[in-house]
Amino acid sequence: MKTLKLGYVGSGFIAKFLAIAMKQVRHCELSAIYERSGAAELAKYAKENRLGEPKLYDSITEICNHCDAIVIFSPNYTRLAIMEEIADAVKAGAPLKGVICEKPLGRTVEEAEKMVELARGADLLTCYFENQLHMNAINNALAQLRPQQKVMGDFTLARSTEEHAGPHSAWFWDPTRQGGGVLSDMGCHSIAVCRHILTPEGKPNTFLKPVAMQCDTSLLKWGQPKYRDQLKEKFGVDYSKTPAEDFVTGIITFKNPETGQLVKGQFTNSWMYDKQGLRLWMDAIGPGYAMEVNSLISPAEIFVGDEAAEGVADAETALEKSTASRGLLALHNNEADFYGYTTETQDAVDSFLRGEDAFLDFEYGLETTRLVQAAYMAAEKGQTIDLTDASVQKELKTYRSLISQGKGADILFS
Ligand SMILES: NC(=O)c1ccc[n+]([C@@H]2O[C@H](COP(=O)([O-])OP(=O)(O)OC[C@H]3O[C@@H](n4cnc5c(N)ncnc54)[C@H](O)[C@@H]3O)[C@@H](O)[C@H]2O)c1
Repeated sequence: MKTLKLGYVGSGFIAKFLAIAMKQVRHCELSAIYERSGAAELAKYAKENRLGEPKLYDSITEICNHCDAIVIFSPNYTRLAIMEEIADAVKAGAPLKGVICEKPLGRTVEEAEKMVELARGADLLTCYFENQLHMNAINNALAQLRPQQKVMGDFTLARSTEEHAGPHSAWFWDPTRQGGGVLSDMGCHSIAVCRHILTPEGKPNTFLKPVAMQCDTSLLKWGQPKYRDQLKEKFGVDYSKTPAEDFVTGIITFKNPETGQLVKGQFTNSWMYDKQGLRLWMDAIGPGYAMEVNSLISPAEIFVGDEAAEGVADAETALEKSTASRGLLALHNNEADFYGYTTETQDAVDSFLRGEDAFLDFEYGLETTRLVQAAYMAAEKGQTIDLTDASVQKELKTYRSLISQGKGADILFS
């Protein structure tokens, strides 16, 4: 096989971003799209940009019969049913080679475990899409610092944040469908980024052992009456009854199993970050060296004065989740590449063409889901969770956070 044919399930926000990234990736084409909202528009974009001649299909089985790798870009609450259909289609003879799933792999550990079981039971190669671990800004900084690390010792602290003013689709705001609030949505990125940066050179991505989790979840903006009303009107969710957290911060402690050294990752995520738009901020400190990435600092910026602002209201062309259309604005010249979508796609394509799992496989996605759920548990209990404790590990297997059960009011308003 020289070219990997991709079949997209889901043609919303992230699918469109990944199609932009595909323009910069070799040896792949878009051959099939599941017929739902946005599918025709995505197919048109793909054809215009010579990504392939994708056909629309109204069944998962048909998609599996018309691609080499199926990519799950649908909402979190639809994942498991789609994966079940994929596994059935393969058992019925579909020639599918692999499955890619966008983060998060599951809303609970139980769901993520089932995703792994189904994919492995159908003998599929797997890829968990976690774009931030593929960001060149992070990986180039790490590469530059490897010699210093060798002489001085490993990173001891990594901090990672992803923040914006709130999601674009109603289902994200509904904790019972999404799986929680901003921790479930974006904490998975930041926890994984911390672990990635802290991992010593040449070691596997699960080398560092998670030993403890501290976390605080809170509702800082969208629980206030004025903003609750806005959410009700715009997205039909009632945050007085079923709220989710719009701010989370926590610390995860990892142990190096060879040296015993403890290192820390601090993650912060919010849906109440009212600045220019999406901000990714990461930094890390080792003995005598450091790195920092800030997505709002760009070599390009634009200025739009009040008088000139009329024509660009609500434009999201300069920056994801942009909140302003006048003043001094940050601008990315290649956002899809900056966020790691290009490199994560190239990694999946190259790995699957070699007959291997991607750098991040479903088991990695499961492990990240476990850490996110441990963070919810730590916040609910108001105590540090010992991740090495067998009883905690057992509890996590069936754990569903109060927030994801629609009972967030019990903890977020008290
Ligand atoms: N990596 C990132 O930075 C990033 C950014 C945004 C979203 N995401 C993830 O991508 C996923 C999708 O998010 P989005 O923002 O594109 O959502 P969206 O609401 O914009 O689009 C969802 C798409 O799925 C389709 N869909 C809905 N129900 C379906 C079903 N039952 N079966 C098949 N398709 C269905 C919709 O028609 C739509 O095309 C989420 O899991 C989200 O966490 C990741």
